[in-house]
Order: sequence, then C-alpha cells, then structure tokens
Amino acid sequence: MCGIVGYYGNEDASPLLINGLSRLEYRGYDSAGIAVLHNGKIDVQKAEGRLSNLIGLTTDMHGSIGIGHTRWATHGAPEVRNAHPHISKSGRFALVHNGIIENYKELKSFLEARGFTFVSDTDSEVIAHLIDFYYTGDVITALIKAANRLSGSYALGIICNNDNRLFAIKKDSPLVVGLCGKDTFIASDMQALLDKTRDFYILDNGEIAVIGDTVDILNLSGEHIQKQIYHATWDKTEADKNGYPHFMLKEIYEQPEALERTLKAHLYAPLPFLYDINSIHIIGCGSAYHAALMGKYIIEALTGIRVNADIASEFRYRNPIIKPDDLLLAISQSGETADTIGALEIGANKCKSACIVNVPESTLTHKSTPMYTFAGPEVAVATTKGFTTQLLNLYIIAAKLLKKRGDDRVQSLIEEIEALPTLVQQTLTLEPQLKELGKRIAPHSYAFFIGRGADYAAAKESALKLKEISYIHADCYPAGELKHGTISLIEEGSVVVAIATDKALLDKTISNIIEVKARGAFVIGISCFDLSKVCDVTVTVPATQFVSPLLASVACQMLAYHTAAAKGCDIDKPRNLAKSVTVE
Ligand code: AGP
Repeated sequence: MCGIVGYYGNEDASPLLINGLSRLEYRGYDSAGIAVLHNGKIDVQKAEGRLSNLIGLTTDMHGSIGIGHTRWATHGAPEVRNAHPHISKSGRFALVHNGIIENYKELKSFLEARGFTFVSDTDSEVIAHLIDFYYTGDVITALIKAANRLSGSYALGIICNNDNRLFAIKKDSPLVVGLCGKDTFIASDMQALLDKTRDFYILDNGEIAVIGDTVDILNLSGEHIQKQIYHATWDKTEADKNGYPHFMLKEIYEQPEALERTLKAHLYAPLPFLYDINSIHIIGCGSAYHAALMGKYIIEALTGIRVNADIASEFRYRNPIIKPDDLLLAISQSGETADTIGALEIGANKCKSACIVNVPESTLTHKSTPMYTFAGPEVAVATTKGFTTQLLNLYIIAAKLLKKRGDDRVQSLIEEIEALPTLVQQTLTLEPQLKELGKRIAPHSYAFFIGRGADYAAAKESALKLKEISYIHADCYPAGELKHGTISLIEEGSVVVAIATDKALLDKTISNIIEVKARGAFVIGISCFDLSKVCDVTVTVPATQFVSPLLASVACQMLAYHTAAAKGCDIDKPRNLAKSVTVE
C-alpha cells in the first residue's frame, strides 16, 4: 500500500522525509517522490522503483516543510508521471494521497470542462486540482470544500506555496500526526516515526490536521476538535532488524515473546463480547482468513458453538445471514484491510462485533471491540508472529467458551496455551533441518500442501507463506480431497508437504500420503508422530492435544523462509505485495 510522510519544523525536510519513507518500504511500492517548500517555491523530485533511485535527486532540495510518498500503483502504471507528489494546475499545491477516490472520473470531467489538464492517469491528481479550483486565498476553506466533494478513501498530505504550514486530511485510510517538540510529522502509520516520537494524534475520519508552530485538528465544518495524545508503547528497536538478515526471520524468532505478551493480556481477563452468543462469524483476508479457518475447527470441535469462517471480500457481498445473538469477529494484523473493514460494517448493526488486531488504534479497533495481539511491529510483508498471535487469541476464546460450559478439558487447554511460548521455542530449534529442506524445495516450480481439520488450515497458511516469498506455485488441498481430481497433478518428484498433528485423523492422512507416494511424490511430513515409514522426510513438532497445528505453521514459516532464501528472493518485500491492503 502507498506510504505517506510529512514534516514541519526547523530542519531540512528532505532527509527526514526520505528516512520516513524508508521505514514505510515494507508496505510495498513501485515509485516514490518528495516535495519541499522553500521561500514560496515548491520543489518536487520523483523516481520509479526503489527509494535508492530517488535519494540522489533530493540532495539539493532545501526547505523545512515537506511531504513524501511511496506509491503502490492502483490507477495508472508505475511511471514517474503517476508518482506522487502531484502538483496542482497553478503550481500552488503539492499533494500526496493514499486510498482510492471513487468519483474521480466525474471530478476529472468537471475540472477538464473548466480548463484543467492532467499529466497523470491517477485519481490522486484530481484532488490536487480540485483544491486549486476551490482556492480563493484561504487553504483550509479550499481543503474543506474539496474534501466534501470526494467519495472513497483518502489520507492526504498537502503543502501550499504561499502558506507555511503542512496539512493532513483523513478518511478511511490511516494517517497519524507525530508530535516531536518543535517538529511535527505526519505518516501512514506510527512505525515510520518511532525513531522520532512515540506521541501521536491518530486522525479519525473527516479530520484535518493544520500543522504550523502549533497543531490544530479541525473537522470538515472547520470546527476545532480536542484530540487526546496517544502514547505508543512499541519500542523503536522492535522496528529494526537487530542483526537478522531479514525482518521475517527476526519476526519468526520473536514469536515466543509475542505469544507470551498476548497470553498474559487475555488468558485471565474477561472477554465480554463472548457473553450470550449463539454462533460466530470469523472474517479475514489472506493469512487472517487462515487463522479464521483454524479458529472454526478449534472452537467448533471444543465448544459445539457453530462457527463460520469467511474470506472478508466474499462475506461482504454474499448477503450473509446474521442473527442478533451472533458474534462477528474480524481478524487483521494491520487493522486497515479495506475488505475486512467493509465486511465488518456489513454486520456492525446486526450483531455484536469484535476484532483481533495487532496495530494499536487502527481503523478496525475504532469500529469493534479490540482483542489485541501484542506481536509488536510486524515489518515483513509475510506475516508470522501476527498470524500465530491471532491463533493464540482464538485458542483463548475457545478456552473461555469451554470454561463457561464447565467442560473439564479446559484445564489442559489452558496449560497448553501457557506452554505455547516454550513449545514454539522448541519448534524453532528445527531450523537446521528446515534450512536443508528449503534448499531441496527451492528448484521446484510447484509444491502441494495437504492436511485435515485444523491441519488443513495450517496447510493453507503454509502454502501461502511459500507462494508469497519464494514465488513457487504452492497449492493446498484437504488431504481427503486429493483423490477427487487433484491427484492427477502428482508426478515423479512432486513435492508434497503433509501436515498431520491430529491423532484422530492420522490414519486417514497416512492413507493420503501413501496415495501420493505411490505416484512418485517426495513427501515431507510435518507431524508429532513417527511418519518415517510413509514420508521421505519427517519434521517432528512437539506433541500436544490442541496446539500442534500452530506449531506446524511455525515449522512451515521457517521452511518457506529458507526456500526463499535459497532462491535469493526479496523476502521482506515480495514483488506485487503490500503489507496492508487498504484498498478493495
Ligand atoms: C500474509 O502473509 C499476507 N501478507 C496477507 O495475506 C495478509 O495476511 C492479508 O493481506 C491480511 O492483512 P491483515 O491481517 O493486515 O488484515
């Protein structure tokens, strides 16, 4: 997703803007640019590709007010002319935008009919000209008029060549104001500014930040708003690599402490959103959906409460049946995923809603009751600690529902939840074996993941991890489904990863392993049982009654990481991907 930074203060803006953009690189982008204001003149530099292509162009940019942007192309190819900042027709305004303007074509025609011409194919450029159109001498009035014409989502940073202030406006796309003494920053998320400050205004929809020697927050009627300062507890070092070759490996190893923090927060605390519910809809995208799917298997098997797991972009458009005594539970690491927010809004006024989210004060946490994960900043695009802490919260929800039913299995479940950090630590010691297996898989173009029950959900997540960072086409099938068509794809040497941690389903899964072995597959078993008689290689994860699917996921994170490392892939910033998909 696009990244926005802005600066107002006494120092040269350009190096501060570049530093801020470098901390947003993980969001994924294909071009970048900055604009600085100096003595009534706006200086703009933009470049395709990585930030390194831009830096050399900015060394002679002077001015202490500026905006910067990394662009993840939605409207218009990743070319310099489509890169931000965009300049308005008069040259008076420079603007950066994250989001999608849904009525941009109508506005573009409106402006073209009034003599405006466009240099880009973007929706964002329309906003710059629209502000120009409404400008009659007062910037704030022009901003309010333009914003009231926009429909869609936007986080905007704006500077004006005859107004020595920085402006920011937010609607449905994250934007924070970082307070740092005489310096003030804006950014798409707090992570970009943790090396400068931990004190923020979290802008809400329809709020404008007017940043000069003071910071004023207005609504779209121009009225002043009193904002509380949010003090971020995330530590700056958590957002650094700390010696690891990639953020992803660091975050894989951070899982024991992330799980520890999360279980301490919730295991013995009440979860009122669980009271008096009859069934649960869990929604999410990507890995968050895989957590939802595993949550379905875990909670239904243990509590007998019906659970639907839905991909959020499907849930929001399939007219789901939602009853007043249902619980709508959204899962999202970033709390900003547009499809998940949209799906939550479908059910918001029909039943209780809650969310499992990692980023504090993100949009989802303002729309439903948050059950935070405490994974800390997750920079790698491929989620790891974000995913396993989501699973932990789902195990905790199952334990609380089980306890309410007086089921005597709750004690052993709680004991396993409390042991999770240690169990994951034990799983991480498998790295040498997984590194060798990664080298073995790397030359392949295809891989198949199979599993049953919660292991099927673990296999889906494991397949995504491998696809995301190694670009190997990995697909996942319920183990029992292979014989209904997919097994036609199995040939001599096909890589099959079989996850089997559930004793009750073990024999069935072994039969499926034998089926693929008989057709020449190379089978890697991820299990807590001895599969050496049927698999070519077995990776043994700790045996438990409930949480081994989570442990299998951790082993497969490591397998995916080392496969991608063996291929020399850009592990933390895979091609085409963004860390948080804030557009539909
Ligand atoms: C996971 O590795 C991917 N980066 C992606 O599938 C991600 O899980 C998905 O986009 C949802 O993001 P969220 O958890 O921030 O909502």
